[in-house]
Amino acid sequence: MPVYSYFIAFCVAVLLFILAYIGWWIYIHTSPFHVAVNRIPGPKYLPLIGNALELAGGLDRLQHTLQTKWVEEYGDIYRIFVGTHCYINISSPELMESVLSSQKIIDKGVSYNELIPWLGQGLLLSSGDLWRSRRKLLTPAFHFSILNSFVEVFNEQSRILCGIIGDICQSFADGKSEMDVYPLITRCSLDIICEAAMGTNINAQTETSDYIRAVYRIGQVVTEQFRLPWLRNPTILSLTALGKERDQLLKTLHGFTEEVINNRREVIKKKENNVAQETGTGIKNRLPLLDLLLKASEDGKVLSNQDIRQEIDTFMFEGHDTTTSLLSWFLYAMASNPDVQERVWIELQNEFGDSERDCTQEDIPNLKYLECCIKETLRLYPSVPGFERAVKEDVQIGKYFLPAGCTIGILSFAAHRNPEIFPDPLVFNPERFFPDESVGRHPYAYIPFSAGPRNCIGQRFAMLESKIVLSTLLRRFKFEVSANTKPPIIATQLVLKSLNGINLIVSRR
Ligand code: HEM
Repeated sequence: MPVYSYFIAFCVAVLLFILAYIGWWIYIHTSPFHVAVNRIPGPKYLPLIGNALELAGGLDRLQHTLQTKWVEEYGDIYRIFVGTHCYINISSPELMESVLSSQKIIDKGVSYNELIPWLGQGLLLSSGDLWRSRRKLLTPAFHFSILNSFVEVFNEQSRILCGIIGDICQSFADGKSEMDVYPLITRCSLDIICEAAMGTNINAQTETSDYIRAVYRIGQVVTEQFRLPWLRNPTILSLTALGKERDQLLKTLHGFTEEVINNRREVIKKKENNVAQETGTGIKNRLPLLDLLLKASEDGKVLSNQDIRQEIDTFMFEGHDTTTSLLSWFLYAMASNPDVQERVWIELQNEFGDSERDCTQEDIPNLKYLECCIKETLRLYPSVPGFERAVKEDVQIGKYFLPAGCTIGILSFAAHRNPEIFPDPLVFNPERFFPDESVGRHPYAYIPFSAGPRNCIGQRFAMLESKIVLSTLLRRFKFEVSANTKPPIIATQLVLKSLNGINLIVSRR
């Protein structure tokens, strides 16, 4: 081909590119959708990829760009494009209230799609009337009296965790050891939620199994899909090693849940479920959630086997990752604020003295300072730092019109670090949650469990579990940060985590 022909081909390509760009420019300046969303401040974006370049890189950078940099640059409502999809991210109490209290905006955003193969139409992901009927069905499972029956499980698993941490400390001459507490707490939370959701003990703290490995790994696989958008395409995913691994993990996860459901159905059929102690099947009789679902499915009309499995899988996911994040960040906050840790310890001494007895429901109202510390942890390190709602029909939010088709991102992490509402936001100060200090604070300024009709159904469960596990740990151990260890690198991997673990020096009290 002569040089001349290359030149012509090059000119045609450049011309086509310029024409395509002009076409795109005209489109985003005239289409009603773009005209509406472009009234909202936000960074400039490119055709097809939107703001993907600014969002590429490590998860910590992504977290910083979305939750800090752009909030500082554009304020409490800003617009971005990821690929061709538009996100409107909000962080002021007023805007979050108008979205979260709405009965019209209750469907989840597109980023949740990667969870569908695992959780199906469970409570977290379902929408419309299906969600309404399930929410009604499941609410009684979190009644105060039912939560009471889990106090024993919380204590039992906390004691096992203390035994494991104690053994690690003891193996060092000075009885002190630096350890990443995150994986230890993950296993404890898994044991707790497994007992609560399925009534079965998987001994995650002391043994290992394919199921435990699968629950642990699936979160990482889904995060990879969030990070690398082409893996969201089912065909591309199925061709990759990650896709094949995901299918295997799903087989393990669904297979285990189905087996537990079938076993429990048998137990109920034989009317053995009113035996208080362990049965021969290894299933105990504190099983409100699965029992409730099985009861609702007795005539096969309300819930199929698959429906039950999806609800149980949802509770397994929502109930262990979130609490692990809270418990771990709490210990980090204690270690980096020794005065606060000492004050919690004094409160625990006043309540329990030197006894090793269990923490009971009667102790809970007396652990007020501990509760403020848990709340402050969820402010500074919200387990769920952001969540989404799909805009299915046009809505007005504040002074902006949001057209159907975009997604609203609720940035609770950014909201909780707003200096106008929480002065010195980076300082860990539990007194912010003393009753006098909270007076006049906007009810949507602090939303670790979300708010409105789709708030967290497990909120009371999580608070009770945290108080029992944390009081048991702090009565027995002291937590410190090592001067030689790098501080945690904050990032979102489904929940708020530290990319380099939560490494603390632990010693016996
Ligand atoms: C520290 C612990 C926890 C935190 C911070 C937390 C936070 C949240 C948040 C922010 C949402 C709303 C998510 C969204 O709109 O996309 C949510 C929903 C949900 N949470 Fe939690 N959660 C925690 C523990 C739990 C536990 C222990 C369970 C179950 C035992 C649970 C079950 C659920 C379920 C089923 C939903 C979906 C509710 C619905 O859409 O109707 N969560 N949680």
